[in-house]
Amino acid sequence: MELKLDPWGAVHVDDYTKLFEEFGISSFDDILPKLKDPHPYMRRKIIFGHRNYDSVLRAMQKHEPFAVMSGFMPSGRAHFGHMMVMNEIIWHQQQGGDAFAAIANMEAHAVRGISWEMCKNLGINEYILSLIALGFQPKEGSHIYFQSENCKMRDLAFELGREANFSEVSAIYGFSGETHISHMESVMAQSADILHPQLQEFSGPKPVVIPVGADQDPHIKLTRDLAYRMRKFLVELRNDYISIRGKAASPELMQAAESALKETGYGKVKRYEEHIDVTEIHDKDGLVSGALLESIDRLIIKLELEHGQYGFIPPASIYHRFMTGLTGGKMSSSKPESHIALTEDPKGAAKKIMRAITGGRQSLAEQKKLGGEPEKCSIYEFLVFHLSDDDKELLELDAQCRSGQRMCGTCKKDVAERIERFLREHQKAREAARERLPEFGIKI
Ligand code: TRP
Repeated sequence: MELKLDPWGAVHVDDYTKLFEEFGISSFDDILPKLKDPHPYMRRKIIFGHRNYDSVLRAMQKHEPFAVMSGFMPSGRAHFGHMMVMNEIIWHQQQGGDAFAAIANMEAHAVRGISWEMCKNLGINEYILSLIALGFQPKEGSHIYFQSENCKMRDLAFELGREANFSEVSAIYGFSGETHISHMESVMAQSADILHPQLQEFSGPKPVVIPVGADQDPHIKLTRDLAYRMRKFLVELRNDYISIRGKAASPELMQAAESALKETGYGKVKRYEEHIDVTEIHDKDGLVSGALLESIDRLIIKLELEHGQYGFIPPASIYHRFMTGLTGGKMSSSKPESHIALTEDPKGAAKKIMRAITGGRQSLAEQKKLGGEPEKCSIYEFLVFHLSDDDKELLELDAQCRSGQRMCGTCKKDVAERIERFLREHQKAREAARERLPEFGIKI
């Protein structure tokens, strides 16, 4: 029997569908069936959208290099929302990717005015320890770093600044004449965070996925644009041919591209002054359109690298839903009652759960009659997002709630116990992680 898990699909789904249409985010539904063993967030539609994840999927399946990268601003306590990003990084590392986690201390300092010392303290104690406790591995090619200490990233940020101008960046982030220059720099730092796993020092261009909440999409879009702008060629699929358009590419580079394309035998190569078309493309080695386009792009990227260019592949992204706050509305770091921190006292966390807003009705009688509304319940969400591995169990709980058999009191007690247990174990693992900080090159 196939489990159809969608009781939570209803949560704010309208808002998310809008994202698809208005911003060009693709639905994750196209990707899901192609994954052999998807992460529970994927299976449960918590990860609902993506940009260009196909590139990462192909690399994953062909055992080719790929990476995962995301960042945390050390401006407050890490909560279950941040843990989602951590788990997504770790999952991709387990799938064979190089993993990069940035502690965005330049951003926190520039935008929130947090001292460097505080950034270090929060970075380690709130984020890095949990990341390691949850399973981030010290592997060759994987890095946890503070932005300010990563010279390669900072050099790239400076370089990217040549491709972005004030009007454009202001339009995206609402900058004005009053905006600090460091604030603008931190935007370039974030783009450099995202692109630097593709530098030669980190084994060169490769698909990179950035797991984030949908609010971070403007950064992703800007960075994808910057990646295109740093290229010397634009490789595109037109109806039935592939166009390779030079962007101020030198004559030598154009020549090299023409020869390399002719060698592939992918189709008929026609050279014009500033562009090359490959027509009559055949299905060589079973490659069709998307994959063929990708393999031609990789070929061109190789040439760009040989000519001292970056050859960036536009980064991919995946987007997860936000959890509802325990007090209703958004879960927020600045509202302690709305979230549970990963370092929270387990007993206190259990109490927050007991006080949380549920999908229950006004009175017990009404709830018995009408049943509860799990899709509006912050407690049920905790189970779906974090506290149950078992899809079948969730379906049963959902049914019992809707039919009025299961009351909020019982449910809260159950979830409070689970969260207490989870936090106890997590916090123990964090203490063990503290001993291992040197393995990750983190100096206290
Ligand atoms: N700006 C992000 C935040 O506010 C943090 C961040 C910094 C980030 N660099 C990143 C996120 C790179 C994703 C990728 O939380």
